[in-house]
Amino acid sequence: MKTKGKALSNIKDFKLKIEEYKEAFKNASVKVKDEKSLQELRNLYLSRKKGYLRVLFDELKTLKPTDRPKAGQLINGLKNYIQKRLQSLEKRIKVPKRLIREIDLTLPGRNRYWGAPHPVLLFQEEIERIFLAMGFSIEDGPEIETDYYNFEALNFPPHHPARDDWDTLYITDDLLLRTHTSPVQIRVMEKQKPPIRVINPGKVFRKEAPDPTHLPMFFQLEGLVVDKDITFAHLKGTLEFFLRTLFLEKINIRFRPAFFPFTEPSAEVDIECTVCGGKNRECRVCGGEGWIEILGSGMVDPQVLKNVNIDPEQYSGFAFGLGIDRTALFAYEIQDMRYFYENDLRFIRQFAQK
Ligand code: PHE
Repeated sequence: MKTKGKALSNIKDFKLKIEEYKEAFKNASVKVKDEKSLQELRNLYLSRKKGYLRVLFDELKTLKPTDRPKAGQLINGLKNYIQKRLQSLEKRIKVPKRLIREIDLTLPGRNRYWGAPHPVLLFQEEIERIFLAMGFSIEDGPEIETDYYNFEALNFPPHHPARDDWDTLYITDDLLLRTHTSPVQIRVMEKQKPPIRVINPGKVFRKEAPDPTHLPMFFQLEGLVVDKDITFAHLKGTLEFFLRTLFLEKINIRFRPAFFPFTEPSAEVDIECTVCGGKNRECRVCGGEGWIEILGSGMVDPQVLKNVNIDPEQYSGFAFGLGIDRTALFAYEIQDMRYFYENDLRFIRQFAQK
């Protein structure tokens, strides 16, 4: 566009010229993309020295004095229009200062840490999968139990010395933190009739000082099978199959006679120490014995079946209780069970599933 039009003497021509400027400004404003081009457009029209509006004002002199006020109004109208338009363009283009400061695209991105299942829970699920595949189902029970479920229904008479084997944390005379998952056996048999094939994983509590293989809170997994003609061979076969699947065939296991008030006969099952392989007399995990007890088991005592109104003449069963954290220790070849609960992320993260 020409900046210096030839002198005008006619208000009509002046009006046309103003409209041309307006049109030209509109077209130019559409192309404004950034602050630099916005500033250029502003200077082109509004610059005090040589902007188009300045030139137009200068041209007023060439008009008849009577036409000048009208022409002045027209220029001011154009000026207002241009200023408004520039303002709204500016709003659209300018990035707020605050945002500029906060977003630095050259910085490395922030990592998001996803939560993950705890290693003991992962291990519990591994165990569950093996039993689910054998046709077991999963049942739950309360962590706060009554004396009846934790002891009495399991054939511990009141004041029986066998109760001392479980270092019980009492809440009241009758309420306690369950010392094992065996009370869930009773709860299951109360509401389900044979055939029964269940596992019950969960937290248990004992008054114990923490050491590499003992904790005051740990996880057990109870198993219970009740049906016609269930024998010790079923117990042995099931547990052997389970342990060989869990430890990928490589583990040595042994059954040792034991006593539990709620099973008869009873057996404890040991696995060979995976930390020292039985070769270190000072092993902190197996105490140099080479074997570690990981579960208690036995044939359900007929008295326990009677307690839940199942006829021991018709039915028999077996049960077992496995220490989940304890067994995880050997599966993962970890020296100390306390690592599981210190929540050191350097330890915990090693088990995260990709
Ligand atoms: N409840 C027993 C314990 O905590 C383990 C066990 C369960 C033994 C089932 C026999 C049958 O030591």
